[in-house]
Amino acid sequence: MEVVSSVSLVQGILDGMNRPLGLVPTMGSLHAGHLSLVRRAKKENASVAVTIFVNPVQFDNKNDYTEYPRNLEWDLKSLCHEGVDFVLTPQPDEVFPPGFDTWITPPSLAERLEGYSRPGHMRGVCTVVMKFFNLFRPDRSYFGMKDAQQLLVIEQLARDLNTGVEVVRVPTVREEDGLALSSRNVRLEPDQRRAASILHRALESARDRIGQNLLDASKIRGEIASIVALEPLAKLDYASVADAVTLEELDWIDRQVLVSLAVWFGSVRLIDNYFLEPPQS
Ligand code: PAJ
Repeated sequence: MEVVSSVSLVQGILDGMNRPLGLVPTMGSLHAGHLSLVRRAKKENASVAVTIFVNPVQFDNKNDYTEYPRNLEWDLKSLCHEGVDFVLTPQPDEVFPPGFDTWITPPSLAERLEGYSRPGHMRGVCTVVMKFFNLFRPDRSYFGMKDAQQLLVIEQLARDLNTGVEVVRVPTVREEDGLALSSRNVRLEPDQRRAASILHRALESARDRIGQNLLDASKIRGEIASIVALEPLAKLDYASVADAVTLEELDWIDRQVLVSLAVWFGSVRLIDNYFLEPPQS
């Protein structure tokens, strides 16, 4: 496995790599969710490249950036074990040097959900992902359904800007109690960690209710809010039932929907979602 910390060395290594190339962009502190992306990429490509970069321009909160977990030694060991060919671990001032001033304006669906609570976040994500697409020119790139809005935004970016990159959706990996794996989970206190399964329980309930033909979207949003309210350590940021393509909030569930929520546990904010369909009549 080749590991380089400078963007300037990427081209030389790419020249010697077999195609097709699969790219897995990450911010490190890798867990089984990230590794499922890597495994899928290994299965579908002749070579796999991974980026580990805690991207400063996608954090709206300085504290969240400085406290973001970092664990490079462990990450490289795991990636080597998975048979990854190439890892890039660049420094922020090389990716965004002084004077950097060209940005990707994300598609409108970025303004919904996370867009309300984290303005500027998707602009930072799109810009860094586009830089990595330009740098690696991968055939495929792998993104988790855990961050469903990010996935939809990147799919549209890849299409709209003719990147030629096939964006592959990878299902969410969960803990035994249903909590979606996330690098932020390690920041939860033990009682908050126990409480955090409420996200999954709320989504399971939404799935059951839609399965029972409760298709009034505001009722589903209300039920999610009531379930989260039962957990004293949890504070709901949003509950959404939206069109699974445009992310427009729906009144009535008559097509595939993205049911999603964001919840605070102290200073830690967790998100989760299910893609769901109304029952066939
Ligand atoms: P990061 O949070 O490190 O996530 C990297 C990739 O792993 C994303 O595509 C994310 O959706 C996926 N992932 C995270 N948890 C997962 C889980 N439990 N199951 C399946 N996949 C999971 O997302 C980012 O980094 C950044 O925004 C990035 C795209 C790298 C741009 O900086």
